[in-house]
Amino acid sequence: MNSVKVGLLGLGTVGGGTVNVLKRNAEEIARRAGRGIVIAHAAARDLNKPRICDTTGIRLSTDPNEVVNNSEIDIIIELIGGDTLAKDMVLKAIEQGKHVVTANKALIAKHGTEIFAKAQEKGVMVGFEAAVAGGIPIIKAIREGLAGNQIQWLAGIINGTGNFILTEMRDKGRDFDDVLKEAQALGYAEADPTFDVEGIDAAHKLTILASIAFGVPLQFDKTYTEGISTITREDVTYAEELGYRIKHLGVARRTDKGIELRVHPTLIPERRLIANVDGVMNAVLVMGDAVGPTLYYGAGAGAEPTASAVVGDVVDVVRALTSDPKNRVPHLAFQADALASDPILSMDDVETAYYLRMQALDKPGVMANVASILGAQQISIEAIIQKEPVDNSTFANIIMLTHKVQEKQMNQAIAEIESLETIDGQVKRIRMETLN
Ligand code: NDP
Ligand code: HSE
Repeated sequence: MNSVKVGLLGLGTVGGGTVNVLKRNAEEIARRAGRGIVIAHAAARDLNKPRICDTTGIRLSTDPNEVVNNSEIDIIIELIGGDTLAKDMVLKAIEQGKHVVTANKALIAKHGTEIFAKAQEKGVMVGFEAAVAGGIPIIKAIREGLAGNQIQWLAGIINGTGNFILTEMRDKGRDFDDVLKEAQALGYAEADPTFDVEGIDAAHKLTILASIAFGVPLQFDKTYTEGISTITREDVTYAEELGYRIKHLGVARRTDKGIELRVHPTLIPERRLIANVDGVMNAVLVMGDAVGPTLYYGAGAGAEPTASAVVGDVVDVVRALTSDPKNRVPHLAFQADALASDPILSMDDVETAYYLRMQALDKPGVMANVASILGAQQISIEAIIQKEPVDNSTFANIIMLTHKVQEKQMNQAIAEIESLETIDGQVKRIRMETLN
């Protein structure tokens, strides 16, 4: 049987990795797919740029339209990024009856509903395994492997750059900006690295995970998003003294009132496996009612780990090329006409435990005032440590761990504590998850 011809949009980190993996493992991939898979035509902005891959034998264009319009091509792999040109190219490819594979989480989280509807109308597949957690086949695991379960919650370290930064800061005492530059040089970071640092990339990925886990529409705009840029070395050290690690976590949980969808730095007990996921590695913990907890671990970014997921999707498409479109695995795991309308909870209604750090005047009665404010909001304290003032300061660092409470009560308590004359500046708050 003839090889399947693929068009590639983008020859950067992931595009280059995809060319390398498809070429190196061509024989093994053909044995799996039942047909050879060749990249016939690729597009990049600058055809003279040095590449991490050998493009010999691939027709090259600077205009991605030429690739999408190439009538010999059955599958388009979109690895340009962003949600403008990429969206146009993906919709155009689908319109022409071409299957699509993409690693673009921004595109799927924001425009997935439109893209999948168009794909269903045209009877084509859209693979997006590489969009979440790099090389970890987490989409397939939830969509297919856990299809018999009611998923209760999932929590994941789903941004490689952020985890790399937090790990290097903790283990080597390196500066935030210095580590971010290294992550960019290694090809881990997004074109706009604030997406990594401010949690937007993780929120894109969590949006996708929640949709396939709970069968709800993609709702990126309702995801609570907080990044890692406010985490200091001090907080990392104090958390460790209390037996916790700070990780940037995406959490999606089904509750009686609705679905929690939130991305923020989180204290996790250090004995949990996920608390020990370091560097660019990602991990996703999924709780199913039948299977219990399952944990998926692997490289969250980088050329070949991501290419592994891209090529896996291409093989899936090739295997299914002749099957009836109605009998394929639904894009978002649940049948398109069976999506649920559970509300996404506002952050005010989410209940978690907290780490609080405040600068308090080192004199009698201050702690009693703080405790009475917390008590009035039904917030009970689980642990407390006070650090001696340093450098002749009259303020001491007080660190507290609290039991679970609704976010709106904690907001009220923090506002009252910050208004005390004996408290200097803002109260630092980091949410905590026991993940048991
Ligand atoms: P890169 O910036 O390394 O690559 C982007 C590629 O797109 C480049 O080859 C660039 O060309 C090409 N390109 C951009 N604009 C145009 C245009 N107008 N016309 C033609 N070609 C264009 O990005 P990545 O490979 O890192 O990321 C690609 C996608 O994969 C993104 O959606 C990203 O979020 C996602 N992703 C990335 C991961 C990673 O580890 N990097 C992991 C998982 C997903 P040129 O090279 O000439 O500039
Ligand atoms: N910038 C992303 C990250 C790439 O660091 O996780 C993988 O999606």
